Amino acid sequence: MTGTPGGEASLDAFFAGLDRLEADAAAALVGAADEAAVEAARVEFLGARSGRLKAIQKALGGVSQADRPAAGRRFNEAKAAVADLLAAAQARVRAVATPAAPPLDVTLPGPAVPRGRLHPLTQTIRRVQEIMGRLGFEGVDGPEVEDQWHNFEALAIPAEHPARDPLDNFYLATAGFAAGRGGTMPDAVNPLLLRSQTSTVQIRVMEQRRPPLRIVSLGRVYRPDTADATHYPMFHQVEGLLVEPGTTMAHLKSVLRLFASSFLGGDVHVRFRPSFFPFTEPSVEVDMEWGGRWVEMGGAGMVDPAVLAAVGYDPDEVTGFAFGLGVERIAARRHGIDDIRDFYRNDVRFLRQFPGS
Ligand code: PHE
Repeated sequence: MTGTPGGEASLDAFFAGLDRLEADAAAALVGAADEAAVEAARVEFLGARSGRLKAIQKALGGVSQADRPAAGRRFNEAKAAVADLLAAAQARVRAVATPAAPPLDVTLPGPAVPRGRLHPLTQTIRRVQEIMGRLGFEGVDGPEVEDQWHNFEALAIPAEHPARDPLDNFYLATAGFAAGRGGTMPDAVNPLLLRSQTSTVQIRVMEQRRPPLRIVSLGRVYRPDTADATHYPMFHQVEGLLVEPGTTMAHLKSVLRLFASSFLGGDVHVRFRPSFFPFTEPSVEVDMEWGGRWVEMGGAGMVDPAVLAAVGYDPDEVTGFAFGLGVERIAARRHGIDDIRDFYRNDVRFLRQFPGS
């Protein structure tokens, strides 16, 4: 036997103590079921004040000088091993602690499907139709691709009229169809076009029916305008037509006033300013005052006798009035919108403001 008696034994005992500690720590940490158990094991083995590793560290002082480097190395190994075990155990219980998804309950209602809503212009169109319907006006439709007869000639807009200028209309590069009613232009120069006004529908309906007549037509019209806050190359018009014996401008004004106060709500004033349209005589611009502001809403007038004659009515027997209003304008007026381009940008933040009914 060499060396210090008891020194060797002391080292063996020191190693044995570390082995036991490591084995116990492994058992406690690997078996720890939750965070509390891991924490308890941490305090037991690595606790700074009374942990078992601390106790062994103190025993290191009793190991002989010669054995101390080996003992120290072994101590550090054991300490690192226990720290690793602790980190693994902590990670494991933390993962378990994350709540699992609740079991599927098939009796719960499903997630709400967001419902779309009608575009503010569609809402406006429906509202106009409803109000005009109550006044006895039947809703009718017409094509958006028109011929020269319905867009111009029957409306007393002859070939040389500036309203037919190619720069003011979307003519289509396709041959027109025979107008069938003796237009002043031969078919070869009778191109179709995107209608520039809904007054076309007046003609189409009058050709088909006899008076009395109360119709309203809402739809798209096209003009090569540069888009700005109040213009767009495509917009919507509402066209009203009433043909009955004895119709006067007073009836026109009453209908527009009734319409305007139903649509805008409250007290609305309607003002006529002298104007000119080839298909009405007299012709007026229609302004409406609501909330202290006058806004131009469209045109109107008594149907020109030439138009009545063009569709085979007897101008001595019947009279009628017609009006055409801009749908975007009345919608903008009602909702306080100052740029009609907002209607077409399809920005849902804008569109969401019109939940409709
Ligand atoms: N069609 C005309 C326009 O687009 C408006 C209007 C309609 C005028 C009916 C009189 C009568 O400007």
